[in-house]
Amino acid sequence: MVKILDSTLREGEQTPGVCFNNHIKTAIADSLDQVGVDIIETGHPVVTEEIHEAVKLIASRGLKATIGAHARSVQNDVDVALQCGVGFLGIFYCVSDSRLSHHSKSLKEVIDKITSIVSYAREQKPDLFIRYTPEDTVRSEWSNVVTAAAEAVHAGANIISVADTTGYMIPGTDRSMYDYVKRLKEALAAKNAFPTIAVHCHNDRGLALANALDGYRAGAEIIDATVLGLGERAGLVDLASLLSVLAVDFGQSDRWDLKKLPELYALVSRYSGFATPDLMPITGKNAFTHCAGVHTQAAIKNPLHYQSIDPELFGRKSSLSLDHMSGLSAVKYALDSIGAQNLDDELTQQVLEKVKETGQMGRVVDLEELKHILNHLKKERIHSIESKTKDRAFTLANS
Ligand code: COA
Ligand code: ZN
Repeated sequence: MVKILDSTLREGEQTPGVCFNNHIKTAIADSLDQVGVDIIETGHPVVTEEIHEAVKLIASRGLKATIGAHARSVQNDVDVALQCGVGFLGIFYCVSDSRLSHHSKSLKEVIDKITSIVSYAREQKPDLFIRYTPEDTVRSEWSNVVTAAAEAVHAGANIISVADTTGYMIPGTDRSMYDYVKRLKEALAAKNAFPTIAVHCHNDRGLALANALDGYRAGAEIIDATVLGLGERAGLVDLASLLSVLAVDFGQSDRWDLKKLPELYALVSRYSGFATPDLMPITGKNAFTHCAGVHTQAAIKNPLHYQSIDPELFGRKSSLSLDHMSGLSAVKYALDSIGAQNLDDELTQQVLEKVKETGQMGRVVDLEELKHILNHLKKERIHSIESKTKDRAFTLANS
């Protein structure tokens, strides 16, 4: 069964400018735990004393999720992480030829380093989940990755993460994550190594979620994600989008409390300084809002005509917006919801015209403004009847 690793607190803090206070980090960890993610990656403890403290704090909270930390292939990084009491440790080292030459090291030297660090961590904590990530996996030389990963598993790593560090993969091409994961599992099995495969997909080409699902279909059992897709450059897989696809399309609807997502997103959005974009799937303001007249007319009768995901799964509702794209059906529906039923056709038409006029100014008419429009038009109508009556009386008096 697929596990979700949330890295909002680790990769998310690699978003330029994002830094959560520790009281916010614990609140985010609690909220992620309520949603039901399996692993919470909390940070790289040697980076700052505050992160060290946060990892410790979260690991001691007794959450259901496994609490993880990040470490370079450096013994001090491992020691500091393990002192925090984590149950999961992510150890990384890139084995591409270009990085090896940058470090002036041979593949053998680097693999010796990785295996000694992995087996050291294993000795310190026998029940630790140890993930080894050959950073930039998919662009690294294949034989380097397979050798390093197999050796890491033999040294005690349970998880190998396929990192698309630069968002390089494209589904259905010779850069397919599906093919990569399949081939890697086979190549490792041939070396008698059977790790859990994780996928860490960056969004540089806007394909992070597609690639992660490709990896999952090929047998990856851990998928990394962050709230809002926070992370380096264009970020990572967005957690809510990922959970929605797994729940709605891959039959895993009972795994997570999806109704808790809006609260989690509001929290992360507020303290990361990144507003949830209105167009964001699932959590964005417009994600379940119908606009064009033809859509709203059909969606009022049955929302499924224009939506393939039920908003109530996420504690949300369908709505419609009123602007220059509206038609009579949308306006009647909105009038009904403010208690203005059975208006005559002329007045309803006038309301629609005002809505379109306002929409053309680049504004959406909300229900509050709709009340003002209606009151205004009703007053205008009374005024015009009164003045017509006066004019008539005047004409009669003069005749
Ligand atoms: N394993 C072992 N060493 C690694 C490594 C790895 N996977 N990746 C990088 N390194 C080494 C580099 O070679 C370099 O060391 P060197 O200068 O002796 O060659 C060092 O780590 C990184 O350079 P730099 O940042 O200048 O070193 P630093 O000692 O000032 O700080 C950190 C190290 C980790 C504390 C600092 O880079 C940091 O705060 N990083 C934020 C977290 C991060 O980078 N995460 C990456 C997630 S993929
Ligand atoms: Zn990353």
